Amino acid sequence: MKIKKAVIPAAGCGTRMLPATKSVPKEMLPVTDKPIIQYNLEEIAAAGIEDILIVTNRGKSAIEDYFDRIPELEDTLSRQGKIRELSLVREASQLARVHYVRQQEARGLGHAVWCARSFVGDEPFAVLLGDDLMRSQTPVTAQLVAVAEDYGTSVLGVQRVPPEDIARYCSLRVSPVRKGLYDVSALVEKPKPEQVYSLFAILGRYVLTPGIFPILESLPPGHGGEIQLTDAINVLCGRERVLALDFKGRRYDTGSLSGYLEAQIDFALNHPLVGGWMRAYIKEKAETLMGGNGGANTLPG
Ligand code: UTP
Repeated sequence: MKIKKAVIPAAGCGTRMLPATKSVPKEMLPVTDKPIIQYNLEEIAAAGIEDILIVTNRGKSAIEDYFDRIPELEDTLSRQGKIRELSLVREASQLARVHYVRQQEARGLGHAVWCARSFVGDEPFAVLLGDDLMRSQTPVTAQLVAVAEDYGTSVLGVQRVPPEDIARYCSLRVSPVRKGLYDVSALVEKPKPEQVYSLFAILGRYVLTPGIFPILESLPPGHGGEIQLTDAINVLCGRERVLALDFKGRRYDTGSLSGYLEAQIDFALNHPLVGGWMRAYIKEKAETLMGGNGGANTLPG
């Protein structure tokens, strides 16, 4: 099977990033000089996928504007000879064919994926959570797609999380297939301590078969009263083979303040224009911290 489509659910409320997300979608917050969602489009394009559906809602039109062309801005930059800026502006609108559908009510991630059923049709597809950002040598979606195309199954992008964190994720019951690849036989969303199967949790990346849609269609609300994608995958693994790939890379939950700040630092350290400056700045800060003022910044002047 060939994966040709990807879906980015980006219709969540973003309450953990308020007040910034009051009027700016969390997927549009910048990490260094690009909005988070652009990194996800780049990850999809690097997996050879050219059609992307973004699931949005009323407050997210900034996403559509961003991936559109702005001829007036391009003309101005061209006239001013700002070639680098011009190519950056164009790049965003040329990454892939981007389509949109609105989730009219935030009824959960499972419901957001269900909103993609007409776009997806009868094909396997990738799912990337809009606020999960990855740094890896081989793009994480490409890692999942390679396994999905090889085995002809759904593949979940997983990693082990610390025991104290598993209650915030889902937990998977797995058995090994080969190094880093597992068969999944059950999943539980936000497990209580006695429900934890393993410390493997899904971290924002999936390849799913269209078999997920009839399940989502009739799934009752689960944890938090929302239609949970995890519950649907739990049913799916009773019907067909589902694999879990312990992917290589670092995931940042930019929907949380700590994850967002970690991403800022790591991406800035690796940015060609500001990486050197950032390293020097952090070194200076670290020396101040070691010097014992507790890290508190005194305001100049
Ligand atoms: P989150 O739980 O991180 O999204 O959902 P949220 O509701 O925006 O988070 P809070 O309010 O800060 O807790 C994971 C992913 O699923 C999408 C989100 O946009 C995010 O990418 N999602 C969630 C939807 O598209 N629709 C929903 O109804 C819920």
